[in-house]
Amino acid sequence: MNIRGIIFDLDGVLTDTAEYHFLSWQRLAHELGIPFTRDDNEHLRGVSRRQSLELLLKGRVLPEDQMQALMERKNGYYVESLVNITPDDLLPGVRPLLDELRTAGIQTAIGSASKNAQEVVRRLEIGADIDAIADGYSVIRPKPAPDLFVYAAGMLRLPVAECVVVEDAAAGVDAAQAAAMKAIGLGPVERVGHADAVFPDLSNVTLKDIVEALEARP
Ligand code: BG6
Ligand code: MG
Repeated sequence: MNIRGIIFDLDGVLTDTAEYHFLSWQRLAHELGIPFTRDDNEHLRGVSRRQSLELLLKGRVLPEDQMQALMERKNGYYVESLVNITPDDLLPGVRPLLDELRTAGIQTAIGSASKNAQEVVRRLEIGADIDAIADGYSVIRPKPAPDLFVYAAGMLRLPVAECVVVEDAAAGVDAAQAAAMKAIGLGPVERVGHADAVFPDLSNVTLKDIVEALEARP
């Protein structure tokens, strides 16, 4: 396939903000007296803020104003943790891959469900490496709907067939495939085994590795 664009999810792919999302939800759950484990959190990975809260509440139904207040409280905790982020928080392999893609003339975008994506990109100082950012404000329907990745491809002015998505979440891999894009899954096969190619993370992953891994699978 002729890859002309790579669309990266942000949280858990370029940096470990997935951990900060977990800690923020866990703090909220603790305050509400609701048990919330790392295993529970796996279901929230890549999922929108609202759906994450619904999953955390495990069937409890609250009035809309309380839902809004709880989402704001969690976001406050999350935003507090973002002050710690520096360029050193790019996950292993990300810096060299972004440099290689730039040299190879491959366009790059972020396709993140997060409304904090711009802030995270600013703190990681990768704004100059990324050609387009599609975030939690870009589309209505969250992953696993294809909309965010289709929107990102549109920002790059590329057909979906020439874009590859890199994701750490099952819902993100589903979204990429629903958009008719090839998906690279990062993490355990139990989570992203349905992707077109899987790597543990981006350490030592080159453009050639991505092309070869995708060609190995029909
Ligand atoms: C995704 C994260 O990138 O963004 C989810 O994987 C998060 O954990 C979602 O819930 C929404 O993020 P935010 O920052 O808008 O609450
Ligand atoms: Mg993610």
